[in-house]
Amino acid sequence: MLRSLARERPLRLKSLPRYGQWSSPCIFVLAVIGSAMGLGNIWKFPYLVGQYGGGAFVLAYLACVAAVGLPLMVAELMLGRRARSTPIYGLLRIAREEGLSGGWSVIGWLGSVTGLLVLSAYSIVGGWSMAYVFRSAAGAFHELDAVAAARLFQELTDDPERLLAWHTLFMAMTILVVSRGVRYGLEEAVRWFVPVLLTILGILVFYAHGQPSFDRAVDFLLRPDFARLDASALLAALGHAFFSLSLGLGALVIYGVYAPERVSLLAVAPIVVLTDTLVGLLAGLAIFSVVFQAGLSVAAGPGLIFQTLPLAFGTTPGGHLMATLFFTMLVLAVWTSAISMLEPAVTYVMKRWRVERSLAASLVGVLVWSFGLLSLLSFNLWSHLQPLGSWSRLGRGTFFDVLNFFITGLLLPLTGILTAVFVGWRMSADSSRIELGGGWGYRLWLVLIRFATPVAVVLLFLQAMGLLGWEVL
Ligand code: PHE
Repeated sequence: MLRSLARERPLRLKSLPRYGQWSSPCIFVLAVIGSAMGLGNIWKFPYLVGQYGGGAFVLAYLACVAAVGLPLMVAELMLGRRARSTPIYGLLRIAREEGLSGGWSVIGWLGSVTGLLVLSAYSIVGGWSMAYVFRSAAGAFHELDAVAAARLFQELTDDPERLLAWHTLFMAMTILVVSRGVRYGLEEAVRWFVPVLLTILGILVFYAHGQPSFDRAVDFLLRPDFARLDASALLAALGHAFFSLSLGLGALVIYGVYAPERVSLLAVAPIVVLTDTLVGLLAGLAIFSVVFQAGLSVAAGPGLIFQTLPLAFGTTPGGHLMATLFFTMLVLAVWTSAISMLEPAVTYVMKRWRVERSLAASLVGVLVWSFGLLSLLSFNLWSHLQPLGSWSRLGRGTFFDVLNFFITGLLLPLTGILTAVFVGWRMSADSSRIELGGGWGYRLWLVLIRFATPVAVVLLFLQAMGLLGWEVL
């Protein structure tokens, strides 16, 4: 099917990636989609839409995706394919080839390290998702009331031992896939999980379609209420575009490393972006239909799918089965994202210390697991600790909150802007043209990556530093 994506590009003589290669363009697209679809789409996007008032936020998000997300996705995939080496060494290699300072490898460093930080917290929520598969399958949501739904969630997060068990299991699953390598690990995972996940999403949307409140959910998602579109909503949309499209963590760079030579990245990126956005919208539709049907509020914030949704599924006919499907879909989505966060650092360790993939995956995985304990404990034993104390922007944030803030507010935008400047202004346009194939799509991309992306990211950055004074947290 993706043969049409192939475009004549001059083949350059260079070494094939040492860590592996996707076996077909189709698998490459599935892998990038697998990385992009995750908590961002199924958990965060719907609750942000709920909090910021529906359609207007959706529009803002689409604009950010077009101006920032899409160009950066092309840039990251391109850097990977051009370098054919792990993000840290790859950036170094490209910088040298271009006659630039080796200091640009900082992009690879920032991405790989941030990926591990994100994974340490992502794994905790991955654990919650797994716990909820079992709870829903066991019928725990049957005739739940609001207090009981909140208690169910609290029982989980309050109990460090339970969280530890789920966190450990989730990290072990992630390490297992990455240890098996590109062909037999990552590729097998996305080949099965992504289609299953999309099928489950289809079933859930079909179910939602049968709910009387379906139209209300469509309306809520698509009809913009511009009065609610303030600066903070815009910036939340921009930050979310980074996260949802897996930007800034080296994940797309490493997936680009394994990309087939003759695939047009300018065609792949829009397919992924469209799918990712559609998945977020459809997940929102499935969630809002049930939540409206149960007469509940969609503005519950982060608790939307772990508290409001179980409550809602508990009241709709067949909700028991649908809830189990929903959380299974979530686990698959989180899993296929988590592997792409671990991979950049694992390939670095393999190359740097010449160790086997499975050893590298285990070492890096255990490191992430240990760091994750800080997030884990911030929900219970250390919930009173506020690492930043009285710094006003963060108020009473726990370790988990602070980590979240640093990642989406500082580290992701920083990597994003460095990537845009490097690719748009420092790397020669000839190099990017060779990799992307020229044409009007290429010219449009160059304008976006040179101008739109840096300006938007600078705004996000200033906001995160509290310099613009808009309230986001
Ligand atoms: N895109 C993923 C999501 O939406 C998160 C992610 C970020 C995955 C960065 C990999 C790299 O949940």
